[in-house]
Amino acid sequence: MIFPIVAYGHPNLRKVSVDITPEYPGLQQLIIDMWETMYYSVGVGLAAPQINRQIRLFVIDANPYTKQYPEAEGFKKVFINAHIVERRGEEWAYNEGCLSIPDIHEDVYRPDEVRIKYQDEEFNSHDEWFGGIIARVIQHEYDHLDGILFVDKIHSLRRIMLKRKLLDISKGDIQVGYKMIFPPKKK
Ligand code: NI
Repeated sequence: MIFPIVAYGHPNLRKVSVDITPEYPGLQQLIIDMWETMYYSVGVGLAAPQINRQIRLFVIDANPYTKQYPEAEGFKKVFINAHIVERRGEEWAYNEGCLSIPDIHEDVYRPDEVRIKYQDEEFNSHDEWFGGIIARVIQHEYDHLDGILFVDKIHSLRRIMLKRKLLDISKGDIQVGYKMIFPPKKK
């Protein structure tokens, strides 16, 4: 099943997500549906809050980056109960986008390496370092679990310039190739 994507401005994108247990109802199907939704909307990552579930789960398939970033080759992973415990390395800029914020791409600075504790889809625990473009995508998806969006991390002047575009997204005033859930209309 392809889920609609929660759009910028929706309050549910700003909530802090919670850990889950293996008994979480329909978890395996949810993961299948998240992959399907991500590929349909042509993303490299998708976090559960973007499909309106406030749980610490995201999926990443970094293979489209392989040409430019060799570390991306074959990288396809499910992260459950993700917690970043350390970051290191020089911050570098990358022009990020987000399925919840269509048609906006901005440079975001993030550290080059992250250490993350998480469980895979079989609930095996991992504690691993990732670097380069993988660390980049992990940090972007991970931010969603804490209610943070990449536009929060751009230069304040850029954010002011984007105000109109962001408002249009939150009003549903955009052309986008997948279904979205827009914020409830203000009375
Ligand atoms: Ni995103």
